[in-house]
Amino acid sequence: MSQRVLTTESGAPVADNQNSATAGAGGPVLIQDQHLLEKLARFNRERIPERVVHARGSGAYGYFEVTDDITAFTHADFLSEVGRRTETFIRFSTVADSLGGADAVRDPRGFALKFYTNQGNYDLVGNNTPVFFIKDPIKFPDFIHSQKRDPFTGRQEPDNVWDFWAHSPESTHQITWLMGDRGIPASYRHMNGYGSHTYQWTNAEGEAFFVKYHFKTNQGVRSLSADQAAEQVGKDANSHQTDLLQAIERGVNPSWTLHVQVMTAAEAADYRFNPFDVTKVWPHADFPLRRVGRLVLDRNPDNVFGEVEQAAFSPNNFVPGIGPSPDKMLQGRLFAYADAQRYRLGINHTQLPVNAPKAATADNYGRDGLHATRYGSRQDKNYEPNSYAGPAETGAALAAPLPVKGWTGTHEAPAHAKDDDFFQAGELYRLMSADEKNRLIANIAGGLSQVTRDDVIEKNLAHFHAADADYGKRVEEAVRALRED
Ligand code: HEM
Repeated sequence: MSQRVLTTESGAPVADNQNSATAGAGGPVLIQDQHLLEKLARFNRERIPERVVHARGSGAYGYFEVTDDITAFTHADFLSEVGRRTETFIRFSTVADSLGGADAVRDPRGFALKFYTNQGNYDLVGNNTPVFFIKDPIKFPDFIHSQKRDPFTGRQEPDNVWDFWAHSPESTHQITWLMGDRGIPASYRHMNGYGSHTYQWTNAEGEAFFVKYHFKTNQGVRSLSADQAAEQVGKDANSHQTDLLQAIERGVNPSWTLHVQVMTAAEAADYRFNPFDVTKVWPHADFPLRRVGRLVLDRNPDNVFGEVEQAAFSPNNFVPGIGPSPDKMLQGRLFAYADAQRYRLGINHTQLPVNAPKAATADNYGRDGLHATRYGSRQDKNYEPNSYAGPAETGAALAAPLPVKGWTGTHEAPAHAKDDDFFQAGELYRLMSADEKNRLIANIAGGLSQVTRDDVIEKNLAHFHAADADYGKRVEEAVRALRED
């Protein structure tokens, strides 16, 4: 193989990559050394802003294959026939810590999936938990600030974490989930994925359905105890990345089976709690799981920065037949992601290879901007409508219209028969085995007992009492015992 020639950015050969040009052997460096200047300047610009949340992550390509007919509920083309395969890219992540954190920590995991469909990219940006801490997007920046590093101490502070939760009773269900056995997955392969929110599907007849997505891991759910996780972090801070990378390199391709729960619009109208509340699950007894297909990951990205760091998922990248529900949190997310990416990656991030459609073509009148690479041809006009056969709208609605009513203003959630913030946390607690309960109580007490303010502790204890009398009593006893130590 012939030796490749090292060049400058403009392609000129580099004579010396070990010695800077100087005025004489011992003299100062010359500004005319273009290679040196370019090399130092480029190095200074290697970092881009990390994601404001979910900064640490791992990615993989794969495919989604439809295994069951669900055309009664959606006319999405990529789900339209059994056996249909669609290329995918997934990015798993932790949430709270920055890029330099560790993988095996107690934190939800991101499960962001891009389907490169022939009707454009569909992004399903979910987590490994079926619910979330809050249900109104206006609380998200405060929530995340409380979980990230304190502006003074520069550390994640139990005082802040639990103070936010003290003021957010709707977090009790997710806290019970996070502090339980599934709070620290053994790896990205050994956890389920959930869309968490309710989404809307529309079938070919124009009927609307509401759905929740469940990706069940075919590797089995495996988790780490707090002690096992601490040991893992000490051995390999990148343990999830190592596991995923090596499994796929070995050809052990991880897979998940996708199921959906489906609710009709009529059922949603008078369900006993708000079906668009992301802090609640839909009981499987009411809405059983229906199998849709399987996701298989079979290829590692060639370049982590290019494909994983620059990947951009947005919950408002829908395809015909799939759309948003009235879930308030989801509505906030429809804005937040692409906005974050315009800042983090620039207006033309959609043209980067990992983000660009693969089975469809982006064709519109959006133009130019920093780092544009899609220009169109000489004949293309930059306005619409035009007389030159440029791309035109289809006129076909992407999803069925939904009725709305009421007055504009800031409202509490709509009233349903059973809308309190605690009953599902209690149900989850009562489902746990005695051992699981012991670990849950120890994990909660371990965190809550570090809080310095009594009023914050009391408010949190009241939430566990409201969820289940035994749950509240045991957390309270465990916290008091630790604080007396
Ligand atoms: C109003 C609530 C929320 C807001 C405002 C919000 C905002 C954001 C933002 C700004 C990012 C970074 C995007 C980027 O730079 O590319 C992000 C990442 C992410 N969020 Fe959210 N988020 C919210 C709730 C949620 C919920 C409920 C879930 C899961 C159900 C979720 C899952 C994710 C995931 C998985 C990522 C990482 C995507 C990736 O791998 O690139 N977020 N979020």
